[in-house]
Amino acid sequence: RVDPCRLIDLPDHSDDRGGLTVVEGGRDVPFEIRRVYYIHGVPDGAARGAHGHRRLRQLIVALHGAFDVVVDDGHASARFRLDSPGRGLYVGPMIWRDMVDFTPDAVGLWLVSELYDPADYYRDYAEFRRDARAL
Ligand code: TYD
Repeated sequence: RVDPCRLIDLPDHSDDRGGLTVVEGGRDVPFEIRRVYYIHGVPDGAARGAHGHRRLRQLIVALHGAFDVVVDDGHASARFRLDSPGRGLYVGPMIWRDMVDFTPDAVGLWLVSELYDPADYYRDYAEFRRDARAL
């Protein structure tokens, strides 16, 4: 079955010197972290994502600013506003996602379970939905 998307509160070690948030692979997220990337400078009105993954798992964190992630398991969709470096959205396999409504200062961090592999992507929503609904 579809591994549900969920918000994860991350371990916080902030003190009077500032904030410090930790993500440990296999502990704070249910996968080992093999790749990291970040998205920044998203123009007003631009949308990202519009794909699904066969196997890849990920944690998405708005390190600065805010954006929305719309997730869809082929049956229903849910929208999450990410606006805190202390909380991430876990997205498992077989989820279609769109990222929208970025604030101009938004910096998004992606911690993911796999190296980049175009073959792991669904880029066609109808194909994704057919396979997701057959699970
Ligand atoms: P894309 O998948 O469109 O980004 P997103 O869906 O997260 O908005 O990726 C944009 C380009 O960057 C595309 O040509 C593929 C390339 N890319 C890599 O080469 N390696 C990576 O790890 C990622 C995430 C993207």
